[in-house]
Amino acid sequence: MKRFAKFAIALGAVAVAATGAVAADDPIKVRQELMKTVGKSTKLSSQMAKGKVPYDGAQAEQAMQTIAGVPDKYVTLFPAGTEKGGETEASPKIWEDMAGFKASAEKLKVAATAGAQAAKQGKDAFAAAFGELVKTCKGCHEGYRIKKQK
Ligand code: HEC
Repeated sequence: MKRFAKFAIALGAVAVAATGAVAADDPIKVRQELMKTVGKSTKLSSQMAKGKVPYDGAQAEQAMQTIAGVPDKYVTLFPAGTEKGGETEASPKIWEDMAGFKASAEKLKVAATAGAQAAKQGKDAFAAAFGELVKTCKGCHEGYRIKKQK
């Protein structure tokens, strides 16, 4: 039993080390993938808000929930040492003003949560909430993202 407990602890340590490795592995990649997800959900929402694709309340709500799920994790993906590399577009300002960056992320979360509620009330309510949401993208990108010349 004692031996088993030791083994279990050892296994646990390996598991922790492994997840640590994945997250620490390439936070730049992880955060870029997360933003891509946000981009996709935003695109679909925009098309629905503008009437380019038929409005679907369930899909709109889902898109907003997807976005709302990103910010909390997102802000943990900027450890020291990831200011450069992986074609990151992150601005050095993130590390100079992490509190401001986190506040920007919180705004996105609040707007997306409101968007998910609005989605249930129909297209007009959703379109209005979507308008507020995209302001939060711009608000953060202008201060904390450097657009790479491609
Ligand atoms: C809290 C700040 C913040 C908010 C809010 C934010 N973004 Fe971003 N976004 C960033 C940063 C920083 C990057 C660059 C990250 C990198 O390259 O490491 C980025 C990159 C992106 C990218 C490029 C992803 C890639 O690498 O291919 C897209 C697309 C994007 N954002 C869309 C959006 C949309 C749409 C919204 C609003 C719904 C939004 N973002 C809100 C900070 C933010």
